[in-house]
Amino acid sequence: MRGVIERLSDEGLGVLRAGRREMLIPHTVPGDTVEVLRWRRKKRKPIATEFKVLEPSPIRTEPKCPYFGRCGGCLLQHLPYKEQLKFKAEKLSRYLGMEVEVLPSPVIYGHRNRIDVVISTSGVGFRRYGTWWEAVDIEECPVFGETSGKVLKALREFIEEEKPSLYDIRRNEGFLRYIVIREGKFTGDVMINLVTKEGNLPESFPDYFPFASSIYWSVNRTESDVSYGDVQRFWGEEFIRERLDDVVYLIHPNSFFQTNSYQAVNLVKKVAELVDGERVLDLYSGVGTFGVYLAKRGFKVEGIEINPFAVEMARKNTELNGVSAEFHVRSDRDVENLSEYDTVVVDPPRAGLHPKLVRKILKDEPERLIYVSCNPKTLSNNLSQLREKYRVEYAVGLDMFPHTPHVEAVVGLRKFDI
Ligand SMILES: C[S@@+](CC[C@H](N)C(=O)[O-])C[C@H]1O[C@@H](n2cnc3c(N)ncnc32)[C@H](O)[C@@H]1O
Repeated sequence: MRGVIERLSDEGLGVLRAGRREMLIPHTVPGDTVEVLRWRRKKRKPIATEFKVLEPSPIRTEPKCPYFGRCGGCLLQHLPYKEQLKFKAEKLSRYLGMEVEVLPSPVIYGHRNRIDVVISTSGVGFRRYGTWWEAVDIEECPVFGETSGKVLKALREFIEEEKPSLYDIRRNEGFLRYIVIREGKFTGDVMINLVTKEGNLPESFPDYFPFASSIYWSVNRTESDVSYGDVQRFWGEEFIRERLDDVVYLIHPNSFFQTNSYQAVNLVKKVAELVDGERVLDLYSGVGTFGVYLAKRGFKVEGIEINPFAVEMARKNTELNGVSAEFHVRSDRDVENLSEYDTVVVDPPRAGLHPKLVRKILKDEPERLIYVSCNPKTLSNNLSQLREKYRVEYAVGLDMFPHTPHVEAVVGLRKFDI
């Protein structure tokens, strides 16, 4: 099959059409002329696994990363940033049924504050695009920035000198599995978390990373390919810090934090701009990213979150910033009277709001809702349910994830009088 890529799919893959048949081609852009040599089905859709770009599209740009096209991390580095924003705005507008602008990330390389690097017999880097077993060896990740190069160089020295075994995912053998690198972009703090199978870590490990503020060793005893485990030991600081505007947050290896700090500042500011009244519920509050920021602006905040460790972190963040806010461990299915709040902020996982919560919102009718979403599809489904009693007053996209097809949305809703 050959032809010209006509558009990008929602997942950021080029779409090649022949009659009614569509084929997805990774790492291509609209206007590329391509020839498909091999393909397979993925989630019932045909996807090219081997192809040639016969004539590149005039809109292509040079990817900054030498591993682009092989590494499974970024899909869109070859699409000019302006075009990436256009693609995301069109996608979001289509799902929301209204024109929505996407605000650019202030920084489009070096913006990520976390990367999870695979350590394996096939390489130290990221999974090769389209595989779960192979890794592309990398020296530095441009979307994370220089520190990744320093950490990987030190890790390679450690491996060369101490000769620990590397993990073989097919056999579930070997000691070193992942190194997770995190950096406070506004504080300069660096955390590394080495994830291993059970075994002995040479005492010298932390000596290789004198520039890190915090060094962790975690053990993943399972066969699951995950980049976290039980904390075995740590050296240096227990937490690193990140600052968003005037609020400081603690980061621990086992806690989530928004991955693009430069754009996360705009995200918390946008939510704060949309809040009405005095009493705010931060639902799905995580480590208190919105709640603590809003408490600092004088709002009376309560947070609800299912993960007890995240709640513990949110409480620590509250104390660290000298504000008052309450965070509770609770499920979205068990929220109490929502009419007590002037504004309810929701930032659910990709699956969106639980149906029970949607019914609860429609019953209790809090005046103002702010919906933060990383999945336009579930956002769109939830909005169509909420429209029974709410109108969308405002919607904007924020590009938290340059070079990927993902887009974050913030929607302000208000209850209307029937
Ligand atoms: C997209 S994250 C938002 C985190 C936070 N707002 C932030 O910006 O850091 C979604 C959060 O929802 C929490 N969560 C998942 N399922 C939940 C449930 N059933 N009830 C309450 N919280 C839940 C997760 O633990 C996670 O912290």
